[in-house]
Amino acid sequence: MNATDLSPAPPRFTALRGRLLSFRRAPTGPGDADSHVCIPDGLLLIADGRIQAVGTYADLKDQIPAGVAVDHHPDGLILPGFIDTHIHFPQTQVIASYGAQLLDWLEKYTFIEEQKYADPAHAAAGARFFLDELLRNGTTTAAAYGSVHPQSVDALFAEAERRGAGLIAGKVMMDRHAPAALTDSAESGYADSKALIERWHRRGRQRYAVTPRFAITSTEAQLEAAGALLREHPGVHMQTHLSENLDEIATVRRLFPTARDYTDVYDRFGLLGPTSLFGHCIHLSEEEMRRLSDSGSVAVFCPTSNLFIGSGLFDRAALSRADRPVRQSLATDVGGGTSYSMLRTAGEAYKVLQMRGQNLSALAAFDLMTRGNAAALGMADEIGTLEPGRWADLVVLDARATPAMRHRMNAIDGDLEEELFVLMILGDDRAVTHTYLRGEKAYDRAAPTAE
Ligand code: GUN
Ligand code: ZN
Repeated sequence: MNATDLSPAPPRFTALRGRLLSFRRAPTGPGDADSHVCIPDGLLLIADGRIQAVGTYADLKDQIPAGVAVDHHPDGLILPGFIDTHIHFPQTQVIASYGAQLLDWLEKYTFIEEQKYADPAHAAAGARFFLDELLRNGTTTAAAYGSVHPQSVDALFAEAERRGAGLIAGKVMMDRHAPAALTDSAESGYADSKALIERWHRRGRQRYAVTPRFAITSTEAQLEAAGALLREHPGVHMQTHLSENLDEIATVRRLFPTARDYTDVYDRFGLLGPTSLFGHCIHLSEEEMRRLSDSGSVAVFCPTSNLFIGSGLFDRAALSRADRPVRQSLATDVGGGTSYSMLRTAGEAYKVLQMRGQNLSALAAFDLMTRGNAAALGMADEIGTLEPGRWADLVVLDARATPAMRHRMNAIDGDLEEELFVLMILGDDRAVTHTYLRGEKAYDRAAPTAE
């Protein structure tokens, strides 16, 4: 072996050209031009998967290394890849299950389907489908629930790693009120979660989330164990469900009679904090919102799920009150949610808020799907914007993807906010032309699929 064999491999360069859009901060409302940067003919220079430089094509073209082919998307809108902050990996065959509200839906469909993920081969095939579907929808990072089986999470992380994607995921902890084949114990849930943290947390791009399913399916001993895992592993996430459905809330009150409210159940076990993601948060009291705010916890808005399971209408304005703002994110919650598409999810978020007499501007929605969700995950320095140093996880959008979109776009005179609104109200996977992970093409709408 000569000395040159020991030198690091030269950086791998890639480059994309097209219209670039990235957010600087949460927009204050429609027309907030300072909240984002849009470069009509922009260039992204990428080295070893991270953005090295971003600017106009005219300014940067001389910096394109010799021999690097530029992926040019002359009609595309290039954004940071979408981020889904709450989704269930073992529910790809639960989505679109008829006629039940939360507790019946869990028993009748979800707890049946999730048992199949004990089989590593089923989990591996499921992981391939799941990640294909995320990428086809332009989603490049997700916070995902596994099943109770640690092997389901091993399968998911392994597939994400193979593709160069970064995931947050965790094995569901549930030691009661579920079929025997789907329960762990306080001890085994702790030990299995700990082993997964040691195996996967911060291995490359992967991150772990301690995942007690919700208060109904965990004993006090298990919630205690979840709190211990968080204390022993600073920086891991916590994800669970909170205040989604009225029967659920009444059951929690019965199971934890000494707790002040549902949020207090989690609070007592140290499960609130800036790395904690609480799915739904629909029927919260004033006191609960204050605790979520004080602790820096995140309320995760899952509009397609809340409509489909009939859970209720997220109150964004109440959660945003200036004297006790609760951090918020947006998510699909497949398979209670009905679409993998963050565009569809934003469209339904708009409608839920309309029902409350509230608004979600196109700028606010696109900020949430990218920078905002990255910030909610505590990952704003890694993903969510087109800035040097961030991973080049990207989505390329086409606002003329369908006849209806094209027809509508023909009535718009180049206004970015109107285009974004068309994308979130009429768009879905068909509006995603390409998805990139670490600057490499991971999905191409034009490429033939293998089915
Ligand atoms: N609450 C507890 N488990 C679940 C789940 O899988 N989906 C939803 N939407 N709510 C839950
Ligand atoms: Zn969920």
